[in-house]
Amino acid sequence: MSKNIFSPVRGMKDLYGVDFNKYQYIIDTAMKISKKYGYSPIETPIVEHTEVFQRSIGDETDVVSKEMYTFKDKGDESITLRPEGTAGVMRAIISNNIIVSNNLPLKLMYYGPMFRYDRPQKGRYRQFHQLGFENIGAKSPYIDAINIALANEILTAVGIFDCQVCINSLGEQLSRENYIKAIVKYFSIYEDKLSEESKIRLKKNPLRILDSKDQGDKEICSMAPKIYDYLSKSDLKYFECVCETLSKYGIKYSIDNLLVRGLDYYSHTIFELKVCNGQYKDAIGGGGRYDKLLSLLGGPDVSGIGFAIGLERLMMLLNDKKFQPKENIISVIPVSEKEIDNAFELYNTILSNDIRAEFIHIGQNLSKKVEIASKLNSTILLIVGSDEIKNNTVTVTYLNKTEDEGRNKTVDRNNIIGFLKHI
Ligand code: HAM
Repeated sequence: MSKNIFSPVRGMKDLYGVDFNKYQYIIDTAMKISKKYGYSPIETPIVEHTEVFQRSIGDETDVVSKEMYTFKDKGDESITLRPEGTAGVMRAIISNNIIVSNNLPLKLMYYGPMFRYDRPQKGRYRQFHQLGFENIGAKSPYIDAINIALANEILTAVGIFDCQVCINSLGEQLSRENYIKAIVKYFSIYEDKLSEESKIRLKKNPLRILDSKDQGDKEICSMAPKIYDYLSKSDLKYFECVCETLSKYGIKYSIDNLLVRGLDYYSHTIFELKVCNGQYKDAIGGGGRYDKLLSLLGGPDVSGIGFAIGLERLMMLLNDKKFQPKENIISVIPVSEKEIDNAFELYNTILSNDIRAEFIHIGQNLSKKVEIASKLNSTILLIVGSDEIKNNTVTVTYLNKTEDEGRNKTVDRNNIIGFLKHI
């Protein structure tokens, strides 16, 4: 089969125009807000040793067992395109010795492309972008609530006002082990009725059955034991304090006792961010606490909490109109060949005053050039003809959709920069 090399690889797409503006706006807004919360940026490589993800995310997760882009490099080393950002950030903290005795909590933010070999569909891509935050070294229910508040503040700041936080607790390891024993017992009774995938999960990673999208599995899950009945007293107290603090913050949340998240490194608080208006049902962000992740990778035994927002999903929910460029696009147009040099000089003067401009000198006649300028979304034309040169003026024509549209104005050439700076 011949492949169309002019299309991007399946599940991947080019980012440009309005979408790029949205992307940049979200990043800029998030950087500004996270700075207030004490985060500083980090950028880690897009590829890591495969083991970094196997050890942190867990071999039995869908992400590691099915979705990773893993290949051997020319040195026969197994490397993987990062499916998420947390593992790489933990690896970077260890490699660079970023944690020294008393610089905790360490708060890092990052953004960039991630790769998962998933079935592409609306809001689900094989290359997508995440904006992530990790807060390492401080374990307290208040920190968990502050983390969720940060996520909420970013979403609100970019224009998502109906975000719902779904929250759950996975407790400490012992609570989780007891709970897993209970659900294995429960799901074993219904093993025949479980989907093929959940039958495998029952053997390998039973918690993940709770996350199944299969209708039959969902019905069985609705009657399954609830994790709260297995959380230790202190785990329960911790979780209740997270919830109370969220209420004090005025953050809308709902407890979802089937929420388990798709990555194995979590303990205690886990959460997902969704929009309530039904525009898109999958999570636009998610995260949680990880007690043992750093130590599992060979780093210090400190707990952390973080989350990531999926930028494509968030961009999809933002109104395109708001992100159309609003600035004036000025086109300098010589009427004929004879005025090209003079108009070019004007164009350069405009650029050197940091004003965006285009130079439209190709085109058989003036109306063709105006047509080209219009296709470039020009809002103001500066026409330079022989009369203008003689009188040291410029003819200004408005193309923007305002009351000035179609109007012409003669402006003294010496005043043109001042004029452009005030429109
Ligand atoms: P995650 O829930 O796997 O968590 O991904 C976070 C977000 O990335 C999702 O809520 C979704 O918006 C977006 N996302 C995931 N997969 C895709 C996809 N195939 N296409 C488009 N968007 C996608 C993590 O990755 C954790 N590292 C979050 C975290 C940080 N936990 C602690 N710290």
